[in-house]
Amino acid sequence: MSFKESHLKVVGIGGTLREGSASLGALRRALAAAGEAGAETELLDLRELDLPMYEPGRSLDEYGTGVERLVEELRGADAVLISTAAYHGTLAGVTKNALDFAQFLSGGDHPYFDGKVVGLISTAGGEQAGANATGAMVHVVHALRGVVAPLVVSIPKAWQRADGSGNVTDETYGGRLDALGELVVDLAGGLAARDEEAELAGVAG
Ligand SMILES: Cc1cc2nc3c(=O)[nH]c(=O)nc-3n(C[C@H](O)[C@H](O)[C@H](O)COP(=O)(O)O)c2cc1C
Repeated sequence: MSFKESHLKVVGIGGTLREGSASLGALRRALAAAGEAGAETELLDLRELDLPMYEPGRSLDEYGTGVERLVEELRGADAVLISTAAYHGTLAGVTKNALDFAQFLSGGDHPYFDGKVVGLISTAGGEQAGANATGAMVHVVHALRGVVAPLVVSIPKAWQRADGSGNVTDETYGGRLDALGELVVDLAGGLAARDEEAELAGVAG
């Protein structure tokens, strides 16, 4: 582990409201790999967070602890892993609603996901919808000014590839999730080092 990686934080957000969620299990796997790669990690399980719907005009302190935790963890993250189930050909509503709360990160020097690396994961019952879901999330992350990691893990036929607790049992996909977790740490470390150098150059200049 390098010096810079020991200071990185990776926040994982995802899963559905289904007990034994496979998209949550996939997220747990990638987040564990990010931890192995030296980052501090935090799991935001959307079933546990039990978020209300985002409502424009409502202030952050009116929402309660789940939303506050989500926003603060996203604010402090160097990298984010997002894992969704595919619902009706795209990302699940529970995932999109959680991402809508990024509106509370609209201010400051680094609004939204500016300067953050984002790794994308999906699970689907069939063959195609997972790719659509991750594709849709690419648009969301770009709108939020995040940097999409150039490895996306889409798990088709997830019912064959995860157990009843959602843990990924197919090691082909498990290995990809490990690679994604390591990659976001690596990329976030590169961005942090670049920012540090720019800051030092500014001071020296
Ligand atoms: C309401 C609903 C809609 C779904 N729509 C699709 C779909 O369009 N295409 C598909 O391949 N799977 C679809 N599925 C299957 C889920 O994507 C799949 O079971 C996924 O792994 C569930 O993730 P989870 O275990 O995290 O809840 C749907 C499931 C639900 C409950």
